[in-house]
Amino acid sequence: MNISLRCKTSFVIPVKSSVSRPTISQLGEIAAKMENKSAYQVLKWAIDTYGMGIGLASSFGAEDVVLVDLISKIDSKKAKIFTLDTGRLNQETYDIIDTIRKRYDITIEIYFPERNDVEQMVRTKGLNLMYDSIDNRKLCCDIRKVRPLARALSNLDAWITGLRRDQTSTRQTIKKVEIDDLHRNIVKVNPLADWNTDMVWDYIKKNNVPYNKLHDLGYPSIGCEPCTRAVKPEEDQRSGRWWWENSVHKECGLHWKTQKG
Ligand code: ADX
Ligand code: SF4
Repeated sequence: MNISLRCKTSFVIPVKSSVSRPTISQLGEIAAKMENKSAYQVLKWAIDTYGMGIGLASSFGAEDVVLVDLISKIDSKKAKIFTLDTGRLNQETYDIIDTIRKRYDITIEIYFPERNDVEQMVRTKGLNLMYDSIDNRKLCCDIRKVRPLARALSNLDAWITGLRRDQTSTRQTIKKVEIDDLHRNIVKVNPLADWNTDMVWDYIKKNNVPYNKLHDLGYPSIGCEPCTRAVKPEEDQRSGRWWWENSVHKECGLHWKTQKG
C-alpha cells in the first residue's frame, strides 16, 4: 500500500508501508479468530495492522483508561488517541485527560463541535435544550458528539472503542472486530467486548492506572455534565446517563443510529 510523506518543501514522497491490510472478505475470518483472543492480543493485531490509520476513541472513562494503558504496553506512539470534547464535560474529565496525557507522554487529539452548529442550536433552543425533549437531546448529541466523531474518523481506516457487551442491550451482540457500517465501513475494534466491570477495575487497580475521580463518587458511566448523574450501587450502571429518559435504548448515536422518541 502506498502512503505519502509531505516534507517542508511540499514534495510528496511516496513510501511503501510494510503493513498489509486485510480485505473485507479476509476480515470475517480474522474477526472470528479474534473472538478468542485477549484484549492485548486484539489491540496488538489492530495496531500492527493499521498503525497510524487507527485511533482510540476515548472518553477517558474506566474502560478507555484501560485501553490507553494497554496501548502504552504495545507502543503508545503508534496509535492515535482522540477525544470528543462536547464543551459540556465535567472538570474531573478534563483533569483525567491531562493526567493521562502527562503520565503516558502522549498526544491526545481533541475534537470540538462546529462553532456555527452550536451557536445556532443554543440561539434557537437554549443551552439546556436536552431537558426539553428527546429530539432536542438527540440534536445536541448529534452536533456535539456524532458529527465531531465523523470528522475524527474521516481520515482513519479503523477505530478502537471501550464498548462492552454487558453495558446495554444494544451492545450485547458487538464483536471484538467488526465493520462499522455507520462510518464508511471502516474497521471497529472493541477489545474489551467480553470484559465485565470487575475485570475493568481489577486491571485499573493492578496496573495503577489513573482514572476519572467521578467513578469514586458513584458515576460508573460518565458522559456530559448535564446528562450524567451518580447512581446507587444497586442501580443499573447506565441509569445515571440521560436519567430523565425512559427508553432502554439510551444512546447518543456514536455507536448506533438513535431511534426517534
Ligand atoms: S455513549 O455512546 O453512551 O456516550 P459510552 O459513554 O458508553 O458511549 O462510551 C462507549 C465508548 O464510546 C467509549 O469507550 C469510547 O470508545 C467512545 N466514546 C464515548 N464518548 C466519547 C468521547 N467523548 N470521546 C471519544 N470517544 C468516546
Ligand atoms: Fe448534549 Fe447531553 Fe448529548 Fe452531551 S450528552 S452532547 S450535553 S445532550
